Amino acid sequence: MRRSQIIGFGSYLPKNIVTNDDLARQIDTSDEWIRKRTGITQRHIAADGELTSDIAELAARAALDNAGVSSDEIDLIILATATPDNTFPATAARVQSKLGIRRGAAFDVQAVCAGYVYALATADNMIRLGQAETALVIGAEVFSRILDWEDRGTCVLFGDGSGATVLRGSETAGSNQDRGILSTHIYSDGNYYDMLYVNGGPSTTGTSGYLRMEGKEVFRHAVQRMSEAVETALETNGLKIDDVDWLIPHQANKRIMDSIAKKLSFPAEKVVVTVDKQANTSAATIPLALAQAASDGRLETGNLIALSALGGGFSWGSALLRL
Ligand code: ACO
Repeated sequence: MRRSQIIGFGSYLPKNIVTNDDLARQIDTSDEWIRKRTGITQRHIAADGELTSDIAELAARAALDNAGVSSDEIDLIILATATPDNTFPATAARVQSKLGIRRGAAFDVQAVCAGYVYALATADNMIRLGQAETALVIGAEVFSRILDWEDRGTCVLFGDGSGATVLRGSETAGSNQDRGILSTHIYSDGNYYDMLYVNGGPSTTGTSGYLRMEGKEVFRHAVQRMSEAVETALETNGLKIDDVDWLIPHQANKRIMDSIAKKLSFPAEKVVVTVDKQANTSAATIPLALAQAASDGRLETGNLIALSALGGGFSWGSALLRL
């Protein structure tokens, strides 16, 4: 059975770090409120002129290096982002050009915070079908540009950053012990469109707009849907939660992650957490967390890793992979 395998990880965080105390000097909030409600202590914010394509390129280069793959070998780039450089063309095409690649396909996927799982599912399916051999799957966001910095209920939650992975096709016997992406599941329910959205866009106001959110509803759905998606992934592959070595959920809020771990009866120490230092970087959180856990030696060959995310739409999903 042909599968795709993640063979390299990379990430990039903008230099500028903004702490909760920094925010408390600008808006009516406090380190204590943010930390207690979300677990966030700081976030990275892109410099003026630093674009999504710039930070995506840096994460992609790091992932190529880590994989020992040359850019010439890449025949597919999928970039998950809700903050493209321009309305069109796809920011992925700009990343392709910056990497000096002139073949294959490059396109963006828009599923907000679930974007990386959607992009991974798309790349995995294309590789399984033989439409691509070696892919870059990137999540990159300059979310600071779509935040209303006067809305304390939302602006404290997000940050900027990028993560990238290199996927390659390989033949396996098809067992759940073999390496590679075992399955992906993606879902959406547009009835929740207004729970988490940006109040602008080309066909509405003609401006980019700012993020708006019903925090409590998002919280409830995130816990429920992300847990269900992990359970579905395990059932599909005849595996149990005890078989999972690392759970890497979308990093929106430490309390959401704690609730998911509790719901799944999964040990909190095996949940990879980056939200404390990076906040919510939307489509970039999962590849950033993967890169962090890979570089600090937590991820080992043969580990079973469960990914799960929910974002605006609502859109959500999971992926189960054996490293
Ligand atoms: N600092 C201080 N006070 C604040 C802040 C702030 N930054 N933000 C809101 N408050 C105040 C509110 O005004 C309110 O005051 P009031 O009682 O006087 O009216 C009070 O705190 C409570 O506000 P709530 O919105 O009810 O607070 P809640 O306990 O629901 O926490 C939070 C808000 C942290 C946003 C929570 O709902 C949450 O985590 N939701 C999940 C949302 C999320 O993570 N979204 C990310 C995108 S989606 C995703 O990635 C899955």
